[in-house]
Amino acid sequence: MNKTRSPIVQALLAEIATFDEAAAHRRMLPAGCYTEPDFFAFEQTEVFARTWICVGRVEQVAERGDCFAWEVAGEPILVTRGEDGEVHALSAICRHRGEIIPCPEKGRALRCPLHFWTYDMQGRLSGAPRMGDAEVVAALRRTVQLPQLRVELWHGFIFVNLDPDATPLGPSLAKLEPLWAGYESAGVTALPPAMSDAPLPWNWKVQVENFTDAYHPEFVHHGTHDFAPSILAGDGVRFTEMKPGDNAIVRSVPLKQPGGGMMQDGWGPNAAFPAITTLPPEQQSRLTFAMLPPGMTMMFAPGTVAYTLIRPAGVTATYAGSDRVTYGGWLLPKSTIDLPDFRERCAAVSAGGAKIWAQDVPVNVGMQAAKSSRYLPNGMYGPLETTLQQFNVWLIDAYKRAAAG
Ligand code: FES
Ligand SMILES: [Fe+2]
Repeated sequence: MNKTRSPIVQALLAEIATFDEAAAHRRMLPAGCYTEPDFFAFEQTEVFARTWICVGRVEQVAERGDCFAWEVAGEPILVTRGEDGEVHALSAICRHRGEIIPCPEKGRALRCPLHFWTYDMQGRLSGAPRMGDAEVVAALRRTVQLPQLRVELWHGFIFVNLDPDATPLGPSLAKLEPLWAGYESAGVTALPPAMSDAPLPWNWKVQVENFTDAYHPEFVHHGTHDFAPSILAGDGVRFTEMKPGDNAIVRSVPLKQPGGGMMQDGWGPNAAFPAITTLPPEQQSRLTFAMLPPGMTMMFAPGTVAYTLIRPAGVTATYAGSDRVTYGGWLLPKSTIDLPDFRERCAAVSAGGAKIWAQDVPVNVGMQAAKSSRYLPNGMYGPLETTLQQFNVWLIDAYKRAAAG
């Protein structure tokens, strides 16, 4: 074990080391995983910096010279469309003395605000004023490059991994592949989410556990989620198996009528985003929820794929963006985007999502607060909480890998 880890992290890792597969299915992780700043720092280094993190969509860097700024595991990064036409992810830390480089205005080069070193969109140094004669600058230009991070594109989503040795992302999401054909033959494009401007006051795991919990909608989302129940006579939630290396925790639930979706009061029959006709009947009549730990959640609905990006900023500070939390985060066909009342439809989806979210906020606050209680139970899982058990297994695996490495 790494001797530089704090005693708190060492104690938590020692406790987690006692969790075998059966324990992961039986009980919650130690509360300190949700409350200790040191453990959060450990997760940033050992989980977020070693897994594939979705940072946005190719539409956000559609043309050469496009750029957006993001953060992965606390590292400022720039996502660009390079002169070569490819998507690049670069460390935003200037190679001179480390100032953070912002995205430029369209058409301009990357320029450090401190001494105006400039870089092209692939991170190669192009100018270093007053650093010496032409020969010195030429030598710098030959050797200085913003660190390039690994990028993988998946159905238009841009994923970044700080670990140069990470295994490829694509195979880990294989179980979601069959869902895509019907959306892609309709030619969906993204309206990216606005991120929350104030962090949500809970740990990132509380956020994704709330998303993946099939047990709570019947109780918490009374009136907004009844149309997409986990329990329905003769039908109900379906879970998927997690194979080693899988990075998608998936469940689907039936819709009470095919083609339904989000409307202004939550899930209902008259979806604001019309059902996509190229989807097979199975996908017209079910909602699929996919959690891609640690930083992304997705909903495959008849009218849209809605996604949330999650960016933790502290042990109880989590930025998120989607139609639930803020606005946007939709993949939509042109036929929907071109509807004359498209803006009103987006507003209806946002209103419906906001009503569901308003029901989730107090229970998330409660779950976070309870992690500090001396009376917190070890917990137990019922048959509707398979995805929570799968997330536990994923986390324990990531923590144990880090502890061993
Ligand atoms: S720190 Fe960037 S130019 Fe000096
Ligand atoms: Fe919920």
